[in-house]
Amino acid sequence: PPIQLLGVPVDVGAGQKGASMGPAALRMVGLLETLEELGFAVRDLGDLTPKPSPEGTDPKDRRAQITGWCHALAERSYGMMRDGAFPIFLGGDHSLSIGSVSGVARHCNETGRPLFVLWLDAHGDFNTPTTSPSGNIHGMPAAFLCGEEGFDGIVPDAFRAPVDPTRVHLFGIRSLDHGERVLLRARGVDVADMRLIDEYGVAALLRRIIEKVQAVNGHLHVSLDIDFLDPSFAPAVGTAVPGGATYREAHLIMEMLHDAGVVGSLDIVELNPILDERGKSAHALVDLVASLLGRRILDCPARSL
Ligand code: ARG
Ligand code: MN
Ligand code: MN
Ligand code: MN
Repeated sequence: PPIQLLGVPVDVGAGQKGASMGPAALRMVGLLETLEELGFAVRDLGDLTPKPSPEGTDPKDRRAQITGWCHALAERSYGMMRDGAFPIFLGGDHSLSIGSVSGVARHCNETGRPLFVLWLDAHGDFNTPTTSPSGNIHGMPAAFLCGEEGFDGIVPDAFRAPVDPTRVHLFGIRSLDHGERVLLRARGVDVADMRLIDEYGVAALLRRIIEKVQAVNGHLHVSLDIDFLDPSFAPAVGTAVPGGATYREAHLIMEMLHDAGVVGSLDIVELNPILDERGKSAHALVDLVASLLGRRILDCPARSL
């Protein structure tokens, strides 16, 4: 399918500013050209602008601002899916997934395709406005998507299509707050934490997820938070946590996802270019997207043993 890129320069969901420059940095290191070299037709839709609220948005009201972004993004994301495109949402902080996945979910509901979400992240992002110790909305989007309360009106009602928590797969997790830990267990969300990844490796854990999606011809949305990666090679993030995925672990995930042919939409979030070192984090992300979309080492599919 043709690829559509949409910049979502939101950073009010994060504890510090700067992720709003993420879309520009990803374009600057050649995301579009890289995808074209892989043979795709690519359309850059430019940057989204948030929907203004009728009363005018109070610049200090972060919840109101996120609502403006997510209203606009849910509609846009749904439109991109209906176009038959493969959408890539360029963040922007992780609160944008409230909007992007809501649009994808509505399309999946209408077409009867089960939606699965692979959440690659150091964090669970499963806080609610009640449990969050920081109040930062980028720590809450996975909880919203699974239908938790406390988010009234953050997307238009027509886009309120909760994802089945047992179809949400958190992967790479190594930092959880108390409240979200309790909630994740109560809802039955599948969590592959770094402890499990160290013991079994990414391949075995990911294969089980891929098989689950393939068994019902599902749509897999990948939400890639740059802090999933080890900060040694991807330092440009405000919420870095040591002990992340290695360069090759991350590529293997992308290569396996490509070979499986299950991914239908993608978020790239939390890149904060002001914290980068000579663009290396932005480059690392573009290379990962290339692996997800078919760049491979040999020019043939992987063989079995
Ligand atoms: N758990 C912390 C919080 O809720 C950190 C969340 C970080 N989220 C992210 N998307 N980087 O504030
Ligand atoms: Mn479709
Ligand atoms: Mn994170
Ligand atoms: Mn996140």
